[in-house]
Amino acid sequence: MKLRTLDSISWEGQRALVRCDLNIAFHPDGTPSDVSRMERLRPTIAELVGRGAKVVLASHLGRPGGTVDPDLSLTQLVEPLGETLGVEEIALLGDSAGDTIEAITRGLQPGGIALLENLRFHPGEEANDPEFAAALARLGDAYVNDAFSVAHREHASVVGVPRHLDSVAGRAFETEVDMLGRALDAGDGSVMAIVGGSKVSSKIVALRNLVGRVDALAVGGAMANTFLAAQGLDLGKSLVEPEMFDEARAIIEAASRSGCELMLPVDVVVSDDAAAEPQVVPAEQVPSGQSVYDIGPETCDAYGNRLTTVQTLLWSGPLGLYEVAPFDQGTAVVGRTAAMLTRGGVLTSVAGGGDTAAALSRLSLGGGFSYVSVAGSAFLRWVEGRSLPGLLPLAA
Ligand code: 3PG
Repeated sequence: MKLRTLDSISWEGQRALVRCDLNIAFHPDGTPSDVSRMERLRPTIAELVGRGAKVVLASHLGRPGGTVDPDLSLTQLVEPLGETLGVEEIALLGDSAGDTIEAITRGLQPGGIALLENLRFHPGEEANDPEFAAALARLGDAYVNDAFSVAHREHASVVGVPRHLDSVAGRAFETEVDMLGRALDAGDGSVMAIVGGSKVSSKIVALRNLVGRVDALAVGGAMANTFLAAQGLDLGKSLVEPEMFDEARAIIEAASRSGCELMLPVDVVVSDDAAAEPQVVPAEQVPSGQSVYDIGPETCDAYGNRLTTVQTLLWSGPLGLYEVAPFDQGTAVVGRTAAMLTRGGVLTSVAGGGDTAAALSRLSLGGGFSYVSVAGSAFLRWVEGRSLPGLLPLAA
């Protein structure tokens, strides 16, 4: 999909209302635990500042449900955001709508940056209330969406504001759409998808879409247990979703019909509980009192070898309990292979969704991939092949 970009607007002295996603997690001491969403904003903000725009940043944080919740104020983000963007002064505005806020945005100096208060303190944001969208739109002369991670939300700041303002994609949004397009829509060369995570139920639509579009689909994480159990294997005390057995079998059949090689673990790492001594067993020999916490070494080899035969990798979801060593080894070993092939220039690797970015970053593997999306649900929705309402207003 071709998007309108920052290039199409003359920014000197104009107010750029930038929808960004500063919805990030915090350590118990109140410092952000991951600033990658802030880092991704850098190119857009630097360009707008350099081109003399007055930058008005708009974001949500958490789910305050349309009321003011001081714990979710964006005040706590001003300092880390300034540090990450390398900007000395960011003015925090006490609200995200109203005459006073509008006057302040007009009074910004070219190159100045202001941050609106949490959009979701207003019920009109999530309700996509036309009046709230119009009030927000008065805070900019043109609109920039640099938050692909909210493109699945039909909220005022995502789909309402563009009805009032000239609207373009920011640089991070552009890159995201470009890289995701390369992974699944390129149509030239072979594609392997690796899908992990705990539940088949949360990724069922994505799995259905993928088997019709990729050459190989390797399944890991606890969701692989459900696939194995659906074929009659006894998985001991492992997490399985019996209500998804029919779906799992249907996916296996759909894969075979469409010529997609569906790969499941042939060996697994089991333990009494995630704290006890692990052992590797064949997938069909899980001891009755034990649970599966990772894919085994033979499975890592099989997934890694298959990777060497494709040009593109799409990865969503960790392959084991990556937070607890040694159950991070499946994700680490296959991730290292992907990174090695990517560095060698023979693989385009795109990862994203849910825990994936966190898992790769914990294993210091993110930098080895062609692209790691910081979008959670929006990434998954795209893998599901569904439309993203936030994309349409930015189409060229
Ligand atoms: C995200 O973190 O995925 C986005 O910021 C969207 O957040 P939401 O699920 O609360 O809409």
